[in-house]
Amino acid sequence: MEEEHTPIVIRPESSDDHSVIRDVVAAAFDSDVEADLVDRIRASPEYVPDMALVAEVDGDVVGHVMVSGAVLRSAMTDRRISMLSPLSVRPDRQRAGVGSALVRAVLALADERGEPLVVVEGSPDYYRRFGFEHSASHGIEIDLPDWAPPEAEQVDLLSSFDPDDATLRGKVIYPPAFDGV
Ligand SMILES: CC(C)(COP(=O)(O)OP(=O)(O)OC[C@H]1O[C@@H](n2cnc3c(N)ncnc32)[C@H](O)[C@@H]1OP(=O)(O)O)[C@@H](O)C(=O)NCCC(=O)NCCS
Repeated sequence: MEEEHTPIVIRPESSDDHSVIRDVVAAAFDSDVEADLVDRIRASPEYVPDMALVAEVDGDVVGHVMVSGAVLRSAMTDRRISMLSPLSVRPDRQRAGVGSALVRAVLALADERGEPLVVVEGSPDYYRRFGFEHSASHGIEIDLPDWAPPEAEQVDLLSSFDPDDATLRGKVIYPPAFDGV
């Protein structure tokens, strides 16, 4: 018999979700650091409400992702780009496709909005399946913590990415919401 899968519903977060999102993020990371980060991003000019998504299973919020603004500093200018962080799935709902559904949905939204790219700092083994590549090979540098492998700096190039646009190469500057994370 075929296994039945409970549908995963992806939708933008709303103010009613803030407290359950805190719980999901803190449980996923086993720390309040990333839950505080979500609150700080939400309160910052870099917050993009349309690209802060929750995943619901059986009516419960079990996952969350945020894509918000960062700066890409090239030789000629600073420009705003999109950055995915953080991504969280409640531990008892991990490895069931929730994280993948969130990442695919938020990348599709970024593409629809005409964003040229989305950067992420994370496991290449996980993010590669969504199209992320080592960002250094596209001239994009992200400062990584000492413990992270060099391939943890990644970028997903979207439909409107122009390889001839030199303002899309440079160093990613994290906004103040990320200070101390
Ligand atoms: C990483 C995380 C978001 C993945 O969510 P998820 O819902 O479990 O992911 P999915 O079910 O969509 O996983 C799809 C695949 O990724 C793999 N995977 C899950 N977590 C992984 C990880 N940390 N590294 C590498 N691969 C991973 C799964 O094995 C699965 O592979 P399979 O389809 O071949 O079995 C979730 O484990 C989590 O919240 N972790 C703690 C917080 C965190 O590390 N967030 C990411 C950094 S911002």
